[in-house]
Amino acid sequence: MTIQELELFQFRNYKKQNLSLEEGINILYGQNAQGKTNILEALYISSTGKSHRTNNYRDLIQYGQNNFEIKLRAIVNDRENLIVLRYSLDKGKSVEINGIKRDKLSDILGTLNMIFFSPETLEVVKGSPAIRRKFLDILLCQTDRQYLHLLKRYNTLIKNKAIALKKGKYEKQYEEVIPVWNEHISVNGGKIAYLRMNAIKKLNGFMKKEIHKITDNSESSELVYKTFCDINEEKDEEFFKKELKKRLDEGFLKEISNMQCIYGPHRDDFEILLNNMNSRQYCSQGQQRTLALSLILSELFYIEEIRGEKPVLLLDDVMSELDLQRQEYLLRGLSNVQTIITTTDEMPFISLEKRKVKKFFVNGGRVIPKVDKN
Ligand SMILES: Nc1ncnc2c1ncn2[C@@H]1O[C@H](COP(=O)(O)OP(=O)(O)OP(=O)(O)O)[C@@H](O)[C@H]1O
Ligand SMILES: [Mg+2]
Repeated sequence: MTIQELELFQFRNYKKQNLSLEEGINILYGQNAQGKTNILEALYISSTGKSHRTNNYRDLIQYGQNNFEIKLRAIVNDRENLIVLRYSLDKGKSVEINGIKRDKLSDILGTLNMIFFSPETLEVVKGSPAIRRKFLDILLCQTDRQYLHLLKRYNTLIKNKAIALKKGKYEKQYEEVIPVWNEHISVNGGKIAYLRMNAIKKLNGFMKKEIHKITDNSESSELVYKTFCDINEEKDEEFFKKELKKRLDEGFLKEISNMQCIYGPHRDDFEILLNNMNSRQYCSQGQQRTLALSLILSELFYIEEIRGEKPVLLLDDVMSELDLQRQEYLLRGLSNVQTIITTTDEMPFISLEKRKVKKFFVNGGRVIPKVDKN
């Protein structure tokens, strides 16, 4: 996939900005607080409908205005796509894909594919389970249309059940409705667990290879899916549904007394092991960075395998965090991947080889293409 053009109107610190991107590497450089990340944010929103740093679209509107617009032209599977995303304080959000208005913002999921890598990605390695679940959910939503619907349905069930559990302790009628919900929860939750198990298995395969490459075979990684039941071997969807149902039936009284949804994939996690040790507790900062880097590349290969096309990679401020060897490794892994990099200095890029590079100077909400190439 290749982004050709981005147009912003009243988005963050951009009044009106047009940007033509190169199919190879694009470097956005400039001082702090000039608008580099804002560009990546706009790109990411047009592929996921969500910002990586705010849940509130109001924050995205330029101060003092009441609407913004993002337009993006991209080639996906040899076809041109035009995405227009609008938000205004009085009319809310709207999205148009190739001239056709869509009802839901989530319709843009899966039209474009982008991966965002920033220093915060490290949190997937060292942060809480919720961050890893989010990582996995974003990946699955981008590659599997039914997953988003499944997840939405499941989350609504869990939310309603949690309310019923709180009331159920004192009011009988709430207690009676829970087994009915548990039935639906095990069907949807079992399927979610099954899809997550498969995704982790696939990611694990890619990641093992990457870790071997980057450490010259001296270290090995393993991703281990942690869910409501033990999985020692490959299991099918039915297995997860039955197991979840069993946990929910057996734990009924416990859930009532705790007034909490205890069992199900909303509590999932996956462990990232390096040399059989949990990376959260045992890895050095450098090792954690290596894991995050290889996880991102694995995500890229994963999406490529499923979608038949390489996603676009957005690298926010990560180059300076990596040593030279890791920088080279990253850029080597990225051949034929359109990449947009932000940095505060004009990067003396080492191994860009023969790849096409376009540089942009970002200054006070303006992006100025630099004429000389590399
Ligand atoms: N809604 C908004 N309206 C106008 N300006 C905004 C809005 N939101 C953020 N900004 C401005 O955008 C700038 C930050 O942009 P951005 O995060 O892209 O900076 P950056 O170039 O990536 O900086 P750094 O190198 O520090 O990461 C700040 O000056 C901020 O005040
Ligand atoms: Mg920034």
